[in-house]
Amino acid sequence: MPVATFHIKRFDPDNDDMPRYDEFSVPYEASLTVLDGLFYVQEHFDGSLSFRYCCRAAVCGSCAMYINGRYRLACQTNVRHLDGDVITVEAMPHMPLVKDLVCDMTDFFAKYEYIEPWLMRNSQDPAKEIGQTPEERKKLDMPIDCILCGACYSTCPSVWGEGNYIGPAALLKAYRFEVDSRDEARKQRLAHFDNEHGAYRCHTITNCVEACPKELNPTEGIQWLKRAAVRRRLFGRLK
Ligand code: SF4
Ligand code: FES
Repeated sequence: MPVATFHIKRFDPDNDDMPRYDEFSVPYEASLTVLDGLFYVQEHFDGSLSFRYCCRAAVCGSCAMYINGRYRLACQTNVRHLDGDVITVEAMPHMPLVKDLVCDMTDFFAKYEYIEPWLMRNSQDPAKEIGQTPEERKKLDMPIDCILCGACYSTCPSVWGEGNYIGPAALLKAYRFEVDSRDEARKQRLAHFDNEHGAYRCHTITNCVEACPKELNPTEGIQWLKRAAVRRRLFGRLK
């Protein structure tokens, strides 16, 4: 059976002065993912290794890490598909660290909540479901696939430089509701992205597009928000 060397960045802010890399040999068969490999390390070598996961199916976003120099979901990264048998696993960079591979996502989710990421309606709810045409539904195809993994936020230079910038994931979610034909909170949500910490902080560097493990395009959504905000300021149009 082939063996992969897991080269894992370790750091416990409560007990360590400096980060270090530990190496572990992990035998693997065809289907082993990086997340499976981390479980192997935890079970056979070091129970104190910390990492985050939940669904193991690329839908919860918990296991986003920096693997062989790229943002990836550990649960959908097959060891066989990585170049070579040395696999470097690090926490997402530029994020505060809880321990080892676990980032502190507090700011990320606070900013996400700030844009009020839910469907809002002012009219009375109709007696039956609110229909959408296929064209209206199609507008949601891209943004609705965001799994809130935080990779785009971690890689964004505007987030590094401007701590209050709400970042690409929160803005993509604002876009997701702005283009939803059922949502009626355009004025209310506009105030959350049409300001100095919102859409204008995006300088279209597009790191987020490259980093996103779901192949989404937060930059496209943010550009849409900028145009919508300017149109509303100039012409008072809400669409
Ligand atoms: S846009 Fe992509 S990278 Fe950003 S949080 Fe959503 S899934 Fe993750
Ligand atoms: S464990 Fe849920 S996305 Fe990987």
